[in-house]
Amino acid sequence: MQKYEDKHMLIKWLAIGFLVLLALVIIVTLYVTGTEWQQSQVHRDFVAEQQTSTDEVGKSAVIVFSRSGSTSVLANHIAAKQNARLIEINAKDYDLGVPGWLSALADARNHVADITPENLDLTEFDTIYLGSPIWLYSPAPPIWQVVQNNDFSGKHVVLFNTFNSKFEQTFIDDFKKLVIQKGAISFEHQYVKRGRMGAQLSVFEMLSVFDNKYPG
Ligand SMILES: Cc1cc2nc3c(=O)[nH]c(=O)nc-3n(C[C@H](O)[C@H](O)[C@H](O)COP(=O)(O)O)c2cc1C
Repeated sequence: MQKYEDKHMLIKWLAIGFLVLLALVIIVTLYVTGTEWQQSQVHRDFVAEQQTSTDEVGKSAVIVFSRSGSTSVLANHIAAKQNARLIEINAKDYDLGVPGWLSALADARNHVADITPENLDLTEFDTIYLGSPIWLYSPAPPIWQVVQNNDFSGKHVVLFNTFNSKFEQTFIDDFKKLVIQKGAISFEHQYVKRGRMGAQLSVFEMLSVFDNKYPG
């Protein structure tokens, strides 16, 4: 009888533990995706205010994939500074919201993704800036796919990333290898750490940190 009650108690506590864990996962998911959505609105408004005419572009292009707009803000800033053509890459699988966030987590280390546009004509450019967020310490899959799909022969390539806390150099080294395989003649990595969610740099602070690090 005692044994039966002990087993019953154990099952009860396991069930409570599971429900608490499930509630925590749901709260974290809603907090993260809600914060991303709020940030995307701020980033979108910021970009809309900053947007200037890009009719007369030089020999540089800025190609960016951004999910919640942070890297997109930086891309617009670089494009304005370098008088460069700005090209946004879309990846529907990683749209804002819970399904997109879960897909991003699941695919974070992949080097393939469904992107639009699939191919780009880069012949008129000497320098190509490639921007993306960091996902699980590695540049997000869509920017790897951009490199796979295009010819970088004779180009100077600059990878730029925004992230919250950390990336791993080994993934950047792999990215560099791929870029060189695709014909690039130089590679540089530029980045801004925004800080943990809830205590992040403002958009102005992020751009100012970037400009101080990379004055060119
Ligand atoms: C699926 C996923 C994984 C992430 N992994 C990391 C990570 O490993 N290291 C980090 O510092 N930030 C990580 N982040 C945070 C993003 O890199 C950061 O918020 C970035 O600035 C977002 O850029 P975006 O607004 O252009 O999408 C991750 C975000 C997502 C959605």
